Amino acid sequence: MSSAPDGPDESLGSDDPLDHAALTSTLNSMLVYAKAAHFNLTTPRRRAITQLAPAHQSILEPYYSNYLASIDRAITTNSQFLQLVAQIGANDFEAPQDRSSWQGATALQVDQTKGTLKQLFRDWSAEAKAERDVIYNPVIDALNRLFTDDERSTTRVLTPGAGLGRLAYEIAAEGYSSQANEFSFHMIIMSNFIINHTEEDYQFSIYPFIHSFSHNVSARNQLREVRIPDVCPSKNQSRSKGDFSFTTGSFVEVYGPQTNASEQAITEKWDAIVTVFFIDTAHNVLDYIDTISYALHDANEKASYWINFGPLLYHFEDEQSTRFENSSGSSYDESNLSVELPLDKLVEVIETAGFVFLELKTGIKASYASDPKAMGAWIYDCVFWVARKRRPGEEYVSFVDRVTDQN
Ligand SMILES: C[S@@+](CC[C@H](N)C(=O)[O-])C[C@H]1O[C@@H](n2cnc3c(N)ncnc32)[C@H](O)[C@@H]1O
Repeated sequence: MSSAPDGPDESLGSDDPLDHAALTSTLNSMLVYAKAAHFNLTTPRRRAITQLAPAHQSILEPYYSNYLASIDRAITTNSQFLQLVAQIGANDFEAPQDRSSWQGATALQVDQTKGTLKQLFRDWSAEAKAERDVIYNPVIDALNRLFTDDERSTTRVLTPGAGLGRLAYEIAAEGYSSQANEFSFHMIIMSNFIINHTEEDYQFSIYPFIHSFSHNVSARNQLREVRIPDVCPSKNQSRSKGDFSFTTGSFVEVYGPQTNASEQAITEKWDAIVTVFFIDTAHNVLDYIDTISYALHDANEKASYWINFGPLLYHFEDEQSTRFENSSGSSYDESNLSVELPLDKLVEVIETAGFVFLELKTGIKASYASDPKAMGAWIYDCVFWVARKRRPGEEYVSFVDRVTDQN
C-alpha cells in the first residue's frame, strides 16, 4: 500500500492566495481551539454559577466546579493533539514558517475543528464501528459482489468527499486500488496525520463529546476518552493489500469534464465510484452526476459502477434561501446556488444521464458521527444504490417506481 494522502497536492502549496489563506486559517483554527473552547464552554458556565442564588449554588457545588475543571482538562488534551496535527500539517503542506503571516481563523472554522474531532470518532475509533458497519459494509459488500477476488488489485475505486478516509482505506484493505478525494483542509490535514503520521493503534486520546452539554446521561459519558486510531494505517500495512492514494481539490474540478485546473485533472477512468454522505454536498447535484459519468469507464469499453449510500440533506438549501431574501434580485450570488431534487426525481435524472440501477434500497437508518451514549441522536433514512453505466441503446427497467413503492 502506498502512503496516503500522497503528499501535498500542487494546488495546496501553490501561490494561490485563496489556498494559502484556507490552509493557514484552518491550521490557525486548530491552534486557537483551546482558547475558543475555554471561552465558549467553561468561562460562561463558571460565570453563570456565580449568578445563581446561594441556595442553588450550594446544591450544585462543588460538583459543578469539578465538572467544569474536567472539561478544561479535556480541552487541554484535545488542544495538545490538535497542536501536533497543525504542526505536521504546516510542515507537510508547506505553510510559511512565519506564523504571523497566517490568516486568522473564523468562528466557523473553529467549529469545524470541533467537528473534526467528532469525525475522528466516526472514522477512526473502535466505539464507532457499529455506525461505520451500517454504512461502509453495504458499499464494500457491493464491490465484492461486482468484482472477483482476482480483479481487485486492478480495479480502480474512487471515493470523492472521503472525509477522514476510513472507507477508502477499508476499500484498499480489501485489495482494490483505492483513491480518496477531499477538498476540506480540515479533512485533508487530519487524514494526512492519521494515515501517515500515527505509529500505534490507539496512540492518541481525544475528547470529542465535551462540546455539547445537552443529551448527556452523565458527565462521565460527556467526558469519556476516545482513543484513536483503532487501526493505525502505517502499523497495519499488511492489512492493506491494495494501492491507496489521496487527492485534494474539488471533485468536479479534479475529475470532471470541464475542469479549469487542467494540470490537476485525473484522466484515467474508474471502475467504480463510491459516494457516501456526499451527493447532497453539491450546489448542483447534476454537476456531480456529470462528473461521475465522465470519470467512469465508457460503457462500450468496460462495465463501471456507481455505489451510493447516504441521505439527501442538501447542504446549501438554507444558504440559498437566505441569499435570495438578501439579494436585490439582480445580483444573485451563484456560489450559493442550490438544486435540491427529491429522490424519485434524482433517480430519474441519473437514469437519463445514462445509468441503469441494479439495486436500490431506501429507509436505511444510519447516524453520522453520533455519540451512541447520548440521550438523543439524529437518525437518517438513507438510500443505498448500485448503478451501472448503461451501454448506448441498452434497454432498462426504470427504478423510479421502486422509490415510491418503498415509501
Ligand atoms: C458529510 S461528509 C462525508 C464524509 C465521508 N464520506 C463520511 O461518510 O464520513 C461530506 C464530505 O464531502 C466533502 N466535500 C464536499 N464537497 C466536496 C467537493 N466538491 N469535492 C470534494 N470533497 C467535497 C466535505 O469536505 C466532507 O468531508
